[in-house]
Amino acid sequence: MAGSELVQVARRARRHARADYSGFRVGAALETADGTIITGCNIENASYGLTMCAERVAMFKAISEGHEKFRRIVVVADTAEPTPPCGPCRQILWEFAGDIEVIMANLRRETARLQMKDLLPLPFDGRLLK
Ligand code: THU
Repeated sequence: MAGSELVQVARRARRHARADYSGFRVGAALETADGTIITGCNIENASYGLTMCAERVAMFKAISEGHEKFRRIVVVADTAEPTPPCGPCRQILWEFAGDIEVIMANLRRETARLQMKDLLPLPFDGRLLK
């Protein structure tokens, strides 16, 4: 799927966001190695700390459906500046997807494109536990 199409899919996923407390709606579209697209949106809760980011929703959906290899993820928010994955999401994305491409976009255009290794330099991961 073309990058611009993947951005469109993430924009559509963003419409499902449950951002009742922050009002900050985020959509994600995760592309697996075989081209399957898994979407996510942020899901907030009255117990704020239970909030789950769009990127983690997409990744956990993908893992739970048996996907193991990933190509890239798109993150969409209504911000002029790029909205990058938060720290915990970077850790989760690194764990399960490694050095994938992360495309950031808003409702009109792409705002940034980075590799995970640049978003999470010097990562803590399973290699250190061996
Ligand atoms: N959020 C995401 O879903 N992804 C990001 O990359 C940044 C933050 C969500 C979490 C929370 O629901 C809202 O945005 C405000 O932090």
